[in-house]
Amino acid sequence: MNELNVRAAAAGEYDEVRVLFAGAMMFDSSPTELGRRMFEPERTLVVTDGPDIVGTTQALTRDLSIPGAVVPAAHVTGVGVKATHRRRGIMAQLISRQLREVPEAIAVLWASESGIYGRFGYAAAAWGMSYEIDLHRVGPSNVKTRPGEISELPADGAIKELAPLLQALQERRPGVSGRSDLKWQQHLEDKPDERGGKTARQILVHRDESGTIDGYALWRGKMHWTATGPANEVHLEELVAITPAAYQALWQHVLTLDLAGTLEFGFAAVDEPLQQLVTTPTALNRRVTESLWVRVTDVPRALEQRRYAVAVDLVLDVTDDLIPANTGRFHLTTGETVRCEPTDAPADLSLSTTELGAIYLGGRQLAEFAATGRVIEHTPGALTQATAAFNWPVAPVSLEIF
Ligand SMILES: CC(C)(COP(=O)(O)OP(=O)(O)OC[C@H]1O[C@@H](n2cnc3c(N)ncnc32)[C@H](O)[C@@H]1OP(=O)(O)O)[C@@H](O)C(=O)NCCC(=O)NCCS
Repeated sequence: MNELNVRAAAAGEYDEVRVLFAGAMMFDSSPTELGRRMFEPERTLVVTDGPDIVGTTQALTRDLSIPGAVVPAAHVTGVGVKATHRRRGIMAQLISRQLREVPEAIAVLWASESGIYGRFGYAAAAWGMSYEIDLHRVGPSNVKTRPGEISELPADGAIKELAPLLQALQERRPGVSGRSDLKWQQHLEDKPDERGGKTARQILVHRDESGTIDGYALWRGKMHWTATGPANEVHLEELVAITPAAYQALWQHVLTLDLAGTLEFGFAAVDEPLQQLVTTPTALNRRVTESLWVRVTDVPRALEQRRYAVAVDLVLDVTDDLIPANTGRFHLTTGETVRCEPTDAPADLSLSTTELGAIYLGGRQLAEFAATGRVIEHTPGALTQATAAFNWPVAPVSLEIF
């Protein structure tokens, strides 16, 4: 057996990296020109066995909305090890090195299996909600829609209309990843052989009375007929609305399509306002899903770059098995300005970077972790204060699996 080496990928290795990852995930992927243009070799690590790449991970350069800000976040993806080389510590080497090297203060990912990433200090930080809506039972919107107009937009030229709306959503809700122009092109690709029997994607937009686009929905249909009549499927891929009128009108439109029996949507938030707009919320058929995982790679920088729901003045005693600079006591003061600095003062709370990752987007409560001893309160009242401060009024949601 050859010695295994870890190194950054070379610019010409996109195809090999892609084929390895697709093989590990068991999907059939031909490397694409768009994929090649988006490849970031210097942010891709590979493990080689002789001339062959046998393991890989990538950190994409993208931003992410967090409580009160939009910041750079290493978007980790493409983690794969050749089946012939599994369980020899290759992934562990790749992920540990990646986390020590990324310049961003946080790394985020979607996990193929929840059991994989906790050991590296990642924590599930956002729950998602998936819907399988029974359109015959859900009931029409019980809120009157306001004036405005829904129309279809051709895919050509759509990006310049949709991109500003996604950016506006980032200012309103944590967990949303930004998209470059190339990423948008990839997001809107619509290859006929990848539609799985569904129609071409339709892009719906809502315009307010002045003609300004303030929301969009991406959806496809699929014809389905049962013995009792039509039961077409509506597959909603994304719905972004930055005004209540657009939100109501777009949902009303997709919930009331003729011949439709079900609507599937995989990227709702746990506090999705849709539940207010239907007469029978149980017919939304909601299921909580795991969404974004967060790993804090630089504690003071990560804590300074987000905002807090209430002001606190706390000393956190943090441990991190992987990144030594994160272990120590940090003085966090929030208010008009946020400061997080090393200190020798006694700690109010002890926790690890894993718990900080879990509460980072404001979607999970710190108090949850005290119940299992993962957070320890040294100063009475500190846990309640910190829980309130890290919480955020709008739940995080990730709109795409990357
Ligand atoms: C998941 C995968 C990357 C693991 O690679 P690997 O090199 O075999 O992993 P390692 O040998 O470094 O394992 C490190 C630890 O993770 C554990 N682990 C590995 N894969 C796991 C899995 N799928 N679920 C739970 N734990 C897993 C190992 O048991 C090991 O635990 P230990 O430290 O307690 O011994 C690889 O099996 C793979 O490519 N799977 C298919 C693609 C995939 O799921 N990729 C992840 C995309 S998010």
